[in-house]
Parts: sequence; structure tokens; C-alpha cells
Amino acid sequence: MPQTLSVIKADIGGYVGHSAMHPEILAHGEESLARAVQSGLLIDGHASSCGDDLFLIMSHERGENAEEIHKLAWDTFTSGTDIAKRLHLYGAGQDLLVDAFSGNIRGAGPGSAELELEERPSEPIIVYMGDKTSAGSFNLPFYKMFADPFNTAGLVIAESLHDGFAFEVHDVKEHKKIVLSCPEEMYDLLVFIGSPARYAIKRVIARSTGEVAAVSSTDKLSLMAGRYVGKDDPTAVVRCQGAFPAVGEVLEPFTTAWTVEGFMRGSHYGPWMPVSRAQATPSRFDGPPRVVALGFQLADGKLIGPRDMFDDPGFDNARAEANRVADYLRKHGPFEPHRLPLDEMEYTTMPAVAAKLSSRWAAI
Ligand code: 13P
Ligand code: 13P
Ligand code: MG
Ligand code: MG
Repeated sequence: MPQTLSVIKADIGGYVGHSAMHPEILAHGEESLARAVQSGLLIDGHASSCGDDLFLIMSHERGENAEEIHKLAWDTFTSGTDIAKRLHLYGAGQDLLVDAFSGNIRGAGPGSAELELEERPSEPIIVYMGDKTSAGSFNLPFYKMFADPFNTAGLVIAESLHDGFAFEVHDVKEHKKIVLSCPEEMYDLLVFIGSPARYAIKRVIARSTGEVAAVSSTDKLSLMAGRYVGKDDPTAVVRCQGAFPAVGEVLEPFTTAWTVEGFMRGSHYGPWMPVSRAQATPSRFDGPPRVVALGFQLADGKLIGPRDMFDDPGFDNARAEANRVADYLRKHGPFEPHRLPLDEMEYTTMPAVAAKLSSRWAAI
């Protein structure tokens, strides 16, 4: 029976502001998953957080898009929202866009990344959790992990990786997808994924075996709601070793603090800082954006772990770089390229200001 790993996440209220998660919310997530393990719905479950987002990591045998699994996540988020309201947490229920669950979490606000697998004798996986960033932010790290031999030595020297990987890219505005294979179609791939606000890598597939190597959440809250409602802080799951990159190759892209969108009010670019869970508390200008990596070994579907993979001095330089880049970008204040281009901004006063001043514009 293949297993499924489902990571479903939402911001249901921040503590304090958008900076972190209240311990009661996290405990609520843990209790909810523990009950689901007891009832036999899940093989195993782990609740975690990055900034103000709650991530439910679930191992089960019901496949992707299973209604019972999505309902478990939805019910956990809605009951957690009641706690957030009682504590007056900030933005209680922020990412829940619909009033009632209708069979699938997609389109309802929360983000999801799901992957079906036949567990190998040893199955190391990394679950990434992002905050103050956006769907599409995994494009660059995924490209480095699965297509860049300067990052992943195995592409060159390991027979099991030498056939390369295929990338399923979603056009999040037009709702269509394409699969492009590397190395042959690398330049075509980069034409699209270099523009992550529109094109996001949903899945990566090992060409040697056809297995899914990685998956990320590509849900775009603002496109669902048609207005600013929060920022689709993404998650990703990556399988490691064997036909996939080694754990160290999967973590290596984060030795650079890539610039991503999602800093302050979802409307600024900032450096993506790899951090331990203890440091996943974006407070400076509501940032800089964060990414946490939780490592697990699967054992018959049990989640052995997590190990907090960025809790390692090997990532100190990336954190220092992130702070330097944040200092530099912050000096731009309200100017691009710190501020996002107008059509990408989550918040803007432009329509109101433009309407107010419309009669004062004169021809030149
Ligand atoms: P081991 O020889 O310890 O299995 O490591 C192989 C590897 O992938 C290290 O990157
Ligand atoms: P979240 O999407 O993490 O709630 O952040 C909102 C924001 O932009 C804070 O400045
Ligand atoms: Mg928030
Ligand atoms: Mg968030």
C-alpha cells in the first residue's frame, strides 16, 4: 500500500502581530493530529510552525486529495481559530477564506503539498516551512537541488541521478501546467520559473524511476480571494538519497539567502533566511522572510524526527548575508526594488490615491 505524506498549512492567528505562533495553537495542532493517529486516520502526524503559520505534517494511506485528511486539517484550523479569537491573536483565521469545508482544502485558503510514495528501506525526507514569503519561492532552490551540478554533485557522479529530473510547472494565473525535463530543456524551464510570481514548480520527478522527488504548495491566496488576505507562505516536501539528491544537496541551496517576495505587508522583497525553529520568529520589519527545514526518517509511515536541519553553524553565513541584504534593501524604504512592482503588491493605496487625484493630472 503506498503511503502519502500530506503537509497542509495555514495562518490562523499570529502572536505577537504576525511574528510567531502562540503555544496553545501549536498544542492544539499536536492534539488534533494525535487523536487522528489514535482513531487510525493517520499513521503518524507532527504539528510545527514557522513564524505565524501552522504546518500539519501527516502520514497516511488515503492518497492525495483525500477528503478525510483535508477535513482533519480544516477542522484543526477552524477549531484553532476559536482559540486564536479567545486569545485575541492577530489575524485570527487569516487564511481561511470560505465558511464551510466542501471536500478539498484547495481553493479554501490553506496551502498543501502532498506526495505519494513506496517507502524505501531508509526514507529520509525534508519538510520545508516558509514564512513571510510566497508560493513560487521554492523555484530557485528546487532548480539548484535537481538541475544544477554545481549544487548537486550527484547529478554528475551518481548513476542514480544522472538521468536528471522533470519539473511540473504551474501557471498560477492561467491554471495550466507543463512538464519540462532537465538537462535537455533547462533553458526553456528557466524562461518560466525565473518568474516565480506567475510560474511555480509544483512537482519534481526522478526520470530514472518516475517517482515524485519533491512537491511544493502553489496555492495563491490573493488569486483565490481577489484581494489581500494573507500571503500563501509555502511548504515543500523533498525525498533524499538513492535516486534523489543527498540530504546535504537538498539543504545546500539555502547557503545563499535568495531574495523572495513577502517581507512587510506581503509587499516587499527580502532575503530568505534559513533558520532553526527557535529563530523562526520574523520580527524585524515583519521579517526577514524565514525558512525552516525539518528532517525525518520514515519508518513504516512513522515520522521519526524531526531534526531541525538549519540548526547548524553551516548556515551562519547565510543568516549573516540575509541580515546584510535586509539592511541594504530596507534603505530603499518605499522604493522599488525593495517594494514590489505595483501589480504584485498585496497592499496598495494606489486606486484610492489615483481616484482622489484624477482631476489634477494634466496632459504633457
Ligand atoms: P554515506 O556513504 O554515508 O551513505 O553518504 C553518501 C552520501 O550521499 C553523502 O552525501
Ligand atoms: P503573514 O502572511 O505571515 O501573516 O504576514 C503578513 C505580513 O505581510 C506581515 O507584514
Ligand atoms: Mg499572519
Ligand atoms: Mg505567515
